[in-house]
Amino acid sequence: MPIPKAELHLHIEGTLEPELAFALAERNGVTLPYASVDELRAAQAFDDLQSFLDLYYACMAVLRTERDFEDLADAYLRRAAAQGVRHAEIFFDPQAHLSRGVGMDAVVDGLWRALSRSEETHGVSTRLIMCFLRDESAGSAMETLELARPYLDRITGIGLDSAEVGHPPAKFREVYEAAAALGLRRVAHAGEEGPAAYVTEALDVLGVERVDHGLRCMEDPELVERLVRERIPLTLCPLSNVRLRAVDVLEEHPLPAMLEAGLVCTVNSDDPAYFGGYAGDNFDAVRDRLGLGEDRLRELARNSFLASFLEDDEERRAR
Ligand code: ADE
Ligand code: ZN
Repeated sequence: MPIPKAELHLHIEGTLEPELAFALAERNGVTLPYASVDELRAAQAFDDLQSFLDLYYACMAVLRTERDFEDLADAYLRRAAAQGVRHAEIFFDPQAHLSRGVGMDAVVDGLWRALSRSEETHGVSTRLIMCFLRDESAGSAMETLELARPYLDRITGIGLDSAEVGHPPAKFREVYEAAAALGLRRVAHAGEEGPAAYVTEALDVLGVERVDHGLRCMEDPELVERLVRERIPLTLCPLSNVRLRAVDVLEEHPLPAMLEAGLVCTVNSDDPAYFGGYAGDNFDAVRDRLGLGEDRLRELARNSFLASFLEDDEERRAR
């Protein structure tokens, strides 16, 4: 039996397995720039974040209808449940769909069809987190927040993803302020490829409650002390870090040192269809290759629930 856990760092578009990508390409009459599932898998050899993002955005061309988003989320929830995920906070990237002429309604309604029945069908509770693409303008993020207004009863929070370096958190100060005023929870990717200073800025300027990745905080001892003191959770993604070369090999991942330092770490899959594993696979990898024992694995699982937004959102908004 896999350990029950919450997954807090998961891009739904990153769960698009090559088999589903080809099935949706056929259903929608879209041509992928690869001849076969094997060819697409072979393209999943990445040098860095950008080389992954290029493939990630290219494959999204097959996602066109409400049903596509429903099928995508349903497939993820089934796999996650089989690996012990009991709660999932799911990122989505509306700008990557809006720019292709796919409406916010198709995206949110489709995802919601799968998410709203997930407790019943998969035993997995869910939340939706809308991410802004940080390599797009702050104005575009604000427009996206406006477009999402009719759907805010289904969106728990906002996040920030895509190409990190050169797009510091402060660029999005206003949209994070507007989201906070709407009662949305706030997270952001920081310190994946970008420097530790971006983690500090995400805390100070964006007011994030969790940091996605946050790996490079280890380069700033004062920041580590602060994250420990303020109990800011980090949503780490070990297999992703290897595949995107944030670390050379899993055996050199700083997770054990981070736990030792007292950081509130969680383990997640990020983009499992691209990085070789779902949440349970990441837990297995850190057990087998970082030598984390049963107590540490239980700590990671416990942290995942404590760091989640499972508290009643309705109640919080009413406050
Ligand atoms: N979008 C999807 N996965 C991402 C990651 N690991 N970092 C930044 N943006 C992403
Ligand atoms: Zn991510």
